[in-house]
Amino acid sequence: MVKKFLKQKIFCGLDLGANRIKVAILKSSSVDGEYELIGDSISKVHGFKKASVTDIAELSESIRSAVQSASQKAQVKVKELNLGLGSDLVVSRRTSTTIPLVERGHKVITQRDLYKLRDLAKMLSAKIDEELIHDIPQHYVVDDSNQALNPIGLYARKCEINTLMILVNANRLKNIFKAVSQAGYEIAHVMFNTYASASVVLRDQDSMRGCAVLDIGAQSTNLLVFKNGILKFFDKMAMGGDDFSQAIADGLGVSFDLAESIKRSHGYVVAGEQDGQEEILIKQSNAYKPIKRSAIFDALDPKVEAYNTALKEFIFKEHLYDDMSDGMVVIGGGSLLPGLIERIGLAIATPANAGRLRHIHHPQAAYVSELISAVGLSMQGFRTKPHLWDGLGKDNRGVKNFASKLLDLYQEYF
Ligand SMILES: Nc1ncnc2c1ncn2[C@@H]1O[C@H](COP(=O)(O)OP(=O)(O)OP(=O)(O)O)[C@@H](O)[C@H]1O
Ligand SMILES: [Mg+2]
Repeated sequence: MVKKFLKQKIFCGLDLGANRIKVAILKSSSVDGEYELIGDSISKVHGFKKASVTDIAELSESIRSAVQSASQKAQVKVKELNLGLGSDLVVSRRTSTTIPLVERGHKVITQRDLYKLRDLAKMLSAKIDEELIHDIPQHYVVDDSNQALNPIGLYARKCEINTLMILVNANRLKNIFKAVSQAGYEIAHVMFNTYASASVVLRDQDSMRGCAVLDIGAQSTNLLVFKNGILKFFDKMAMGGDDFSQAIADGLGVSFDLAESIKRSHGYVVAGEQDGQEEILIKQSNAYKPIKRSAIFDALDPKVEAYNTALKEFIFKEHLYDDMSDGMVVIGGGSLLPGLIERIGLAIATPANAGRLRHIHHPQAAYVSELISAVGLSMQGFRTKPHLWDGLGKDNRGVKNFASKLLDLYQEYF
């Protein structure tokens, strides 16, 4: 019993979205490889707009009360967080970095060379005002021409690494750190939130064969494509769930806030169900006004078409179809509009399914699909080994054993 208690660990993830803060507290379960969602909260974010802290005290208070509400449910005390940042805050960049291996002649590439190369790529990737949060090696190029996924043991004069870097503006990050610290918490890891979500909705075989994760947030949509077990592509589109609320506001002549609540309770875009004749009552200027449900569909339909056209063009322009053979997993609050995921799948002619949490028991949370990012972030705490997605040439120096060091030396000198 005592042993079981000692093995049990708890981690907290906090996703700072453009719109909402989501918190999840996970506990490792007694069943191996399973986790339990023991605390959660979703609340509106204050003091944070357009990816910048606008009021540090307000943001700090939003974070404090969001974490407190989750920790009260979980009946645990939270000291540190895995923090997730949205795509408004992050930028991605592809870099290539080369190291010479010998002045003259050839030598065999060792694991140590790859570490050096990866460290150099990290050092050179960030501009003066940026912090690197993920470096994802894509492939190596040996002697300018030979592309390799694992070049260890090859003879070479020089070796190049191609890396997908995910970076964040240093000052914005410092301000967020300050707000978290004022709220009374420490930060264990910082991650791009959709990348963290992918780790709990994708199976390793999906990311090996090739598939996409579409995260429909408030004002933007992130598209991530995984192939050969690593993140190959990330970019964002400037459209999100709020565009659908705005379409209802424009179509029905109501305020954005009312349109938002109409969307959540009555919105639907299911193909073939546009004839909804039943009426609903909406409250306007202290009076109730009846509207047909089909009017909501009619207001949303052109926006859904525009969204799908933009998404299709985006995937086509970036030549992503070939890397999405296992389809698309759709997450984010914007994806909760009934019928939207199905229509996305039809438009891009690729299977699209709602993301669901794998290996997580969640007895309490009814709205668990909205917590995917926070769960992905807290899951990071349980990862003692580098994940498949940390890329080629995994950075596991801490666990590198003596025998493999000897092998490196042998390969280097003989
Ligand atoms: N039940 C629902 N039906 C339809 N749309 C919904 C529902 N719940 C939330 N949304 C929409 O989801 C969007 C917010 O999604 P989410 O919480 O994933 O955004 P965020 O993480 O705060 O933002 P971002 O990811 O852009 O940083 C809003 O546009 C909201 O209207
Ligand atoms: Mg989000």
